[in-house]
Amino acid sequence: MTADPQIPLLSVRDLKVHFPIHRGVLQRQVGTVRAVDGVSFDLGRNETLGLVGESGCGKSTTGLALTGLVPPTEGTVMFDGKRVGSESGVDLQTYRRRMQIVFQDPYSSLNPRQRVSDILRVPLDIHGIGTRAERPQMVLDMMERVGLRPDQARNYPHQFSGGQRQRIGIARALMLNPDVIVCDEPVSALDVSVQAQILNLLRDLQAELGVAFLFISHDLGVVEHIARKVAVMYLGKIVEMADRRTLFANPVHPYTERLLGSMPSLDPRKRHSFEVASDDIPSATSIPSGCAFRTRCPLATAVCAKEVPPATERAPGHVVACHNR
Ligand SMILES: Nc1ncnc2c1ncn2[C@@H]1O[C@H](COP(=O)(O)OP(=O)(O)OP(=O)(O)O)[C@@H](O)[C@H]1O
Ligand SMILES: [Mg+2]
Repeated sequence: MTADPQIPLLSVRDLKVHFPIHRGVLQRQVGTVRAVDGVSFDLGRNETLGLVGESGCGKSTTGLALTGLVPPTEGTVMFDGKRVGSESGVDLQTYRRRMQIVFQDPYSSLNPRQRVSDILRVPLDIHGIGTRAERPQMVLDMMERVGLRPDQARNYPHQFSGGQRQRIGIARALMLNPDVIVCDEPVSALDVSVQAQILNLLRDLQAELGVAFLFISHDLGVVEHIARKVAVMYLGKIVEMADRRTLFANPVHPYTERLLGSMPSLDPRKRHSFEVASDDIPSATSIPSGCAFRTRCPLATAVCAKEVPPATERAPGHVVACHNR
């Protein structure tokens, strides 16, 4: 690792993930889902970038593409200053080892027939980390680090609570000592009281290990709690990105304003997701021309239907894509 603080750990430019829609016996392509449609951001070492937006805007697909679980259609990813997948850059195997993912539902993402000790050992086996004799101890050390008891190592996932299962998911992601973990709604399936424990665990692990998080969430309260920077996504694009304080205190994009306006309460017991909009949300199969948000935007003018608003930097680190703001 070059560890040059000037070079972001992860640099994503114009990432696109399009899925073809096939119909009929001939499986002709009748359309395209533009799930991710030109996403760009930088993620620094030890940093947490929150990625927020309504259901279906492409958050998970972004995370999956970045961890190599779905193939990107277009775009470049630089890791540690080197292009991923190019001959002179970072090879995919190294990259995938350094980028891990934690999913929303720890139950369906853990093999129910594997004991925890095996779930955590498999990544070490696959990547040949440690000797056979060392691996069991490495597993126990990691269990302890995420707050699981070593005597639970021979248990199966169903023998754990939801919060404990998410600790297993986090431990699994950490086994290969990654530089980045994509956390895709890691606390959304958990009880509110348990959410705080898991968020605190993630924060402690970050301080201890220096790992960076791309933290995907519906819940602005959760993002406000954990992220240093926040990116707001709408139909496949980032419409606004800023440090957390700026974004929550001085949102510029009308969509961000709308999300914040519909953020019910910071009190975790009263918190809901922000999807309270009752108007029609266009889908990723028929994204409006120009600015995708224009059909719901109170400020929309003629130019919004014609031209995609470029993302411009309004203040250092504060990027907004809007014609009229
Ligand atoms: N494998 C796929 N094939 C076709 N379309 C897909 C596929 N995966 C996702 N999509 C579509 O891409 C869009 C973005 O989906 P994605 O799961 O990334 O959204 P999301 O922001 O994570 O939503 P949520 O908050 O509900 O998890 C959606 O319209 C979804 O239906
Ligand atoms: Mg998702």
